[in-house]
Amino acid sequence: MFHIVMADETVSIHDPKTGDSKEAGANPQQQKQMEQAYAQMKRKMALQEIGRKIKHKIMVLSGKGGVGKSTVSTGLALSLAQQGHSVGILDIDITGPNVPKMMGLDGRRLHVEEGRIHPAQGHLGVKVISMAFLLEDEDTPVVCRGPIKLGAIQQFIGDVEWGELDYMIIDFPPGTSDEPLTVAQSLPDIDGMVIVTTPQDVALLDSRKSITFSESLKVPVLGVVENMSGYTIKGKANPSSELTIAGPGGKSHKVSSDADGNFSVTLDIFKEGGGKDTAEEFGVPFLGALPFDPGFVRGGDDGVHRIVSEPEGESAKAFAKVVDAIVGQIGESSSEGLEIV
Ligand SMILES: Nc1ncnc2c1ncn2[C@@H]1O[C@H](COP(=O)(O)OP(=O)(O)OP(=O)(O)O)[C@@H](O)[C@H]1O
Ligand SMILES: [Mg+2]
Repeated sequence: MFHIVMADETVSIHDPKTGDSKEAGANPQQQKQMEQAYAQMKRKMALQEIGRKIKHKIMVLSGKGGVGKSTVSTGLALSLAQQGHSVGILDIDITGPNVPKMMGLDGRRLHVEEGRIHPAQGHLGVKVISMAFLLEDEDTPVVCRGPIKLGAIQQFIGDVEWGELDYMIIDFPPGTSDEPLTVAQSLPDIDGMVIVTTPQDVALLDSRKSITFSESLKVPVLGVVENMSGYTIKGKANPSSELTIAGPGGKSHKVSSDADGNFSVTLDIFKEGGGKDTAEEFGVPFLGALPFDPGFVRGGDDGVHRIVSEPEGESAKAFAKVVDAIVGQIGESSSEGLEIV
């Protein structure tokens, strides 16, 4: 009868009759398997450590692309930072990462020290990790095959030195693919997901898919945010007068100016209330509406987020309300163990 003894990374075979031990001389394949198992174990421990150090983790998803996930992720992170919280953003979008640009970190490279990746610091001290930091040239498309992508995400999460954080916002690529699943399975204790939608039917249809998807992930839905909800125009007319403004789709809006002649009207660029209806239909909270604000587009281009360029503006206020609603949900979910499955 022989016993196989593993000490450190050497394998030896022990013969109890003779008392002899000899090194098994693990073949290269066994050696590789052991190394992989060891690396995986270390990564698992690192993930547990990260899970412990980051109090709240929030995923931001949508069924459809281009509805404003990255704008919302960065906005939530900055709004939380504005309220005095320590915050990080994990940009999981490997094929089109644009969070660094929105956070004023375009062209930045990651700092690696003793094998640990250190996040870059964006506006308001928000820590940012993005696949964009690893790209040689942002114009080169990253064509990643599934397994490489997943491996990269796990490495990404496990090897980052986030330090202690109150909140981590995780920005995803569009759709319901492998990435959310990997993150949900890798990171312990995710508080929940925020689903971003625009008011159009097609975006809503896709966000319904995301809600259903959350069931398979067993991650609670914190709620739905309606982005690009309405566009407010402000103007001056004769004091205390009645005006008619032609809105999108030929819809006219009656507005009155005040005693100084100021007026404002909010036009629904797409439709209205769709996010709220979806939330109601699925019995999940409606977290609020964010206005259509061309400042977001400019901010995406020049690297100064709307919340930073206009911290007291309407968009910043709308984000603050959504943050309050999310923080309220997290409070509830941690005390009541809310899980929508
Ligand atoms: N509330 C808003 N008002 C005006 N423009 C907006 C708003 N939200 C987002 N945008 C603009 O819409 C475009 C898409 O936004 P963003 O990149 O955040 O979407 P996304 O859902 O992350 O896209 P993807 O699916 O490609 O990751 C950007 O140009 C952004 O500036
Ligand atoms: Mg995005």
